Amino acid sequence: MANATEPPDHWWHADDDQDRPIPIGVDPTIPSPARMYDYYLRGTTNYAADREAAEKALSVVPSGRRIARANRYFMMRAVLAMADQGIRQFIDLGTGIPTSPSVHELAQAIHPNSSVLYVDNDAVVAAHNRALLATNESVKAIQADIREPDSILHSPELQDLIDFSQPVGLLFVAVLHFIRNSEDPLGIVRTFTSRMAPGSYLALSHITSEGTDPSVVSTIQQVYAQASAPAVFRTKAEIHMFFSGLELVQPGLVDVTRWFPQAAMFTTQPPALRFLAGIGSKIPLGHETDLESE
Ligand SMILES: C[S@@+](CC[C@H](N)C(=O)[O-])C[C@H]1O[C@@H](n2cnc3c(N)ncnc32)[C@H](O)[C@@H]1O
Repeated sequence: MANATEPPDHWWHADDDQDRPIPIGVDPTIPSPARMYDYYLRGTTNYAADREAAEKALSVVPSGRRIARANRYFMMRAVLAMADQGIRQFIDLGTGIPTSPSVHELAQAIHPNSSVLYVDNDAVVAAHNRALLATNESVKAIQADIREPDSILHSPELQDLIDFSQPVGLLFVAVLHFIRNSEDPLGIVRTFTSRMAPGSYLALSHITSEGTDPSVVSTIQQVYAQASAPAVFRTKAEIHMFFSGLELVQPGLVDVTRWFPQAAMFTTQPPALRFLAGIGSKIPLGHETDLESE
């Protein structure tokens, strides 16, 4: 875990990994996208199998850690921009292991009473999130699968926190590439966006096959085929479809590094793996968006 304290001891059983305690019900020998991502971010909530798989990915994407960090910066910028537009309620789907600053820290820095619902299907993430993120009445974390969007929408936590008659900030940051086409990722996103009031925003990032070397795509697919979720590369046009019914705000659906003011740091060599990110706004017909990038 990056920059966070530990959840209570009684949530864990013996330290079989000799590195980390293992939550009950978690198989540490199967790499998890959440713990691999934690490793890319230089966190410590990961096991040997996660680190080994992540190192295989990093062997073909040497800038992988910086891409992961740029993805966090995109999330940060999206939350701050949305809060600046008056958004006071957020749903963060595929939250990840707590990494500071988290969505509620950013949102509540602008509007202290902002509500945040964290959703992740990983047991380790859920244990940490409940302990570390659900810090007040306005912030809740649930263990749930985005492939079952109705169960999330009907959860008591969402119903307590989120009022869909008011604008919402919806985050699908680096999560939809773990959903196969057969699991209807477009339908999942639409289930949420169709309920959003005008003035709501969707922030989304996703790995893309376009501009990523086919041999890198193939290695990353092989690595994640051994993990608890596959890596599903999509074209820019396919990722664009997630914003259907929304208006993309500037600078559009672009390399994740372009959302990060110090993007020049990344431009000396093109990254081996491309990651696209965008923000869409749900606007009343006939209105222009005013969420501008710098
Ligand atoms: C790469 S991490 C991204 C974390 C965070 N959104 C960020 O961008 O910094 C992907 C997260 O999505 C979660 N995830 C993957 N598939 C999921 C699913 N079907 N339902 C809910 N969460 C999922 C993983 O457990 C992991 O925590």
